[in-house]
Amino acid sequence: METKPDRKSWLRGAAAQCEPPPKARTNPLRLVLLGAPGVGKGTQAELLSARLGACQLSTGDIFRAAKTLEPCERTPALTAALDYMRRGELVPDSTVLDLVAERVECLRCGGGFLLDGFPRTVPQAEALERMLAKEKIGLDAVLSYELPLERVVARLSGRRTCPGCKAVFHVQARPPKVEGVCDHCGGKLYQREDDRPESIRVRMEAYEKSTAPLADFYRQRNLLVTVSAEGTPEEIFARAMKALAARGKSV
Ligand code: AP5
Repeated sequence: METKPDRKSWLRGAAAQCEPPPKARTNPLRLVLLGAPGVGKGTQAELLSARLGACQLSTGDIFRAAKTLEPCERTPALTAALDYMRRGELVPDSTVLDLVAERVECLRCGGGFLLDGFPRTVPQAEALERMLAKEKIGLDAVLSYELPLERVVARLSGRRTCPGCKAVFHVQARPPKVEGVCDHCGGKLYQREDDRPESIRVRMEAYEKSTAPLADFYRQRNLLVTVSAEGTPEEIFARAMKALAARGKSV
C-alpha cells in the first residue's frame, strides 16, 4: 500500500511539522484552485500535488479535522464554524482568516502551495493578497475549473472520502480498488454530511453569490486560467498543465 507523506502542518497549525519536510524547489508554483463545490478541485489538487510537489492547503480539510477534536478542545469560533459547514453555509471570513494567518508558514513553504477552497469571498481574496505581499510572495496562477451545475451535483452525491489521508473517490467515476477502503492508507471511506441534498443546495447558492465573483477579481490581476472540468481527472489535469505551460509556468 502506497504511504503518502505526512503533511499535518496545515491541518494542525504552524507548530506542527511535516514529515518529511517538502523539498524546496527552484521555481515553486503557488496556485489557487477555484470552482463550484464538487467540481473536482480536491481531486485535481491531489494530481497537481503529486506532479508539482506542492502541498494541497484546504480550509475545508481544517474544519473537517476539527471535528475529530473533543468538543472541549475546540475554540468557540471553531465550534460555530462546524455548524455553518454542516448547513452548507460559508464560515465567517474572520474565522477563516484567523486560521490561515496561523498557518502562514505553509504559505512560505519552499515547495509552493495549492490553495483549495480558500479564498472563497472577495474579502478573503483581498486579505490573502495583503498576506502574500507582506511575505513578498506572488501567486503564479488561479485555476478556475468549470462544469455545468447538474454534473457537479452528480459528482458530489457519489463522493467518498478517506478520513485519514483525505484522498477522494467516487462510487462510479473513481471507485477504490476495494469497496469502502482507501487505496492509499486503508482508511474506511465515508460520505461527507454536507453532501446531503439540502446542504448541497445551500452550498451552490453560497458559491454563486460569494465565490463566483472571484473569477473577475483574479481576471483583473491577469492570474485567471479557466480550465474545463469535463472528462476524466487525468484529462482535466493535462489541460491545466498545458494552460500553465502556455503562461510560462512549466514544471
Ligand atoms: P470544502 O472542503 O472546500 O468543499 P467544497 O469547495 O465545497 O469543495 P468540495 O471538497 O466539496 O469539492 P471539490 O471541488 O474538491 O471536488 P472533489 O475533488 O472532492 O468546504 C467545505 C465547507 O467548509 C464549505 O461549504 C464551508 O462551509 C466551509 N469552508 C471551507 N473553506 C471556507 C472558506 N474559505 N470560507 C468559508 N467557508 C469555508 O470531487 C467531487 C467528487 O467528484 C468526488 O467523488 C470525485 O471522485 C469526483 N470527481 C472528481 N473529478 C471527477 C471527474 N473528472 N469525473 C468524474 N468524477 C470526478
